Amino acid sequence: MAKKKTTNVALIGSGFMGRTHSNAYLKVGKFFNTPTNPTMHTIVGLEPTLGAFAEQWGWQNHTNDAGAVFNNEDIDLVDLVTPNHLHATHAIAALEAGKHVACEKPLAGTLDDARAMAKAAKKAKKSKTFCWFVYRRVPAVALAHQLVKEGKLGRIFHVRAAYLQDWGGPDTPLLWRFKGKQAGSGAHGDLNAHIVDMARFITGDEITEVTGAIKETFIKKREIIESAGGSAITGKGAKKSKKKRYGTSTVDDALLFLARFKKGAIASFEASRLATGDKNANRIEIHGEKGAIKYNFERANELEWYDNTLPGREQGWSTINVTRGDDGHPYVGNWWPAAHIIGYEHTFVNMAADMLNVIANKKPVVPVSDFQDAYETQRVLEAAVLAADNRCPVKMSEVK
Ligand SMILES: NC(=O)c1ccc[n+]([C@@H]2O[C@H](COP(=O)([O-])OP(=O)(O)OC[C@H]3O[C@@H](n4cnc5c(N)ncnc54)[C@H](O)[C@@H]3O)[C@@H](O)[C@H]2O)c1
Repeated sequence: MAKKKTTNVALIGSGFMGRTHSNAYLKVGKFFNTPTNPTMHTIVGLEPTLGAFAEQWGWQNHTNDAGAVFNNEDIDLVDLVTPNHLHATHAIAALEAGKHVACEKPLAGTLDDARAMAKAAKKAKKSKTFCWFVYRRVPAVALAHQLVKEGKLGRIFHVRAAYLQDWGGPDTPLLWRFKGKQAGSGAHGDLNAHIVDMARFITGDEITEVTGAIKETFIKKREIIESAGGSAITGKGAKKSKKKRYGTSTVDDALLFLARFKKGAIASFEASRLATGDKNANRIEIHGEKGAIKYNFERANELEWYDNTLPGREQGWSTINVTRGDDGHPYVGNWWPAAHIIGYEHTFVNMAADMLNVIANKKPVVPVSDFQDAYETQRVLEAAVLAADNRCPVKMSEVK
């Protein structure tokens, strides 16, 4: 067998996403016949346990100096899985060094950073850029995109999206996710970023106006922790100070907004970290003239589908188990036989496969969000913040 060209990867960050991305690079070559295989060259992180992390996941080198990877000629792709305020500096340095760059969502904590990243990407003509909006790569969500593209839903009237989690109660300490300077925003940039991307991706349409928004920080003070230990998301098990000290949360816990799409659909978006009982309920519902879909990530393999073109006596919601690779369901043909379901980590492997395709100038299974595209999502997020802060509608043309 001819030896494939390899893509040397440096991953910056070794927390929650450090693990999902490491797993993706480890698995992708086993399940996908990509034109180039990743080599897990260098992991960058600040944890004292980084050496053990590198060994566990198969990274050849480890360092706590991000600068070392930008200057290393052997690295082809720099992948950023750090807190949001670091994305722009690292992405721009990597692009200026001629690397391909992948970055976790949201593209950045602020619109200014996101704009600078999109600009740097445009300038670096030979570099490919990617934003890890992984829910595009859930087979059921990719199928929804394909159904809309094939005209199966017809004219779209409604988009209803909500991303609900409940880990942000008063016991959750003051992680970076609650610090505006590091995170940019709270539930909004964390969760609305995903559903705005999904809505744009599935409908193939763009938001033209945010017509109203509301945001709230329910838990204003949170306990200060000595280290970022414990669960990366909830901080559960983190080392807390003997004498309790509290700091101010400077982000939203929830943000809701209404919007209009260019082709006429009206939409609602809701993100919360205090939606008691909902752990990772990433939901989207779209109603069109000819059909409708409903999706909830907590039932990841299922897409609900209503065919409004059937005779009335045959109409009703059906549940498609999106696991039939032989019948054309996206991605799943690379995994297991029908109804041998897949999960969260597979979306990252699917994304790694499509990034490697794009790097080798091949088509991804469904479109990948690059920095310019992720900047468009960031503009919508900004419009929603402006609408909430100023209690007024905001036209997208006003947000540059
Ligand atoms: N796609 C998704 O579903 C998803 C889910 C969770 C998080 N995210 C995004 O991933 C990114 C990281 O989130 P996380 O949950 O992995 O956070 P985390 O807190 O678990 O990990 C952050 C990592 O960044 C490292 N780091 C911090 N400063 C650094 C520096 N100066 N140089 C090198 N490394 C540094 C830390 O050592 C740590 O390993 C964020 O942008 C977040 O929004 C995406």
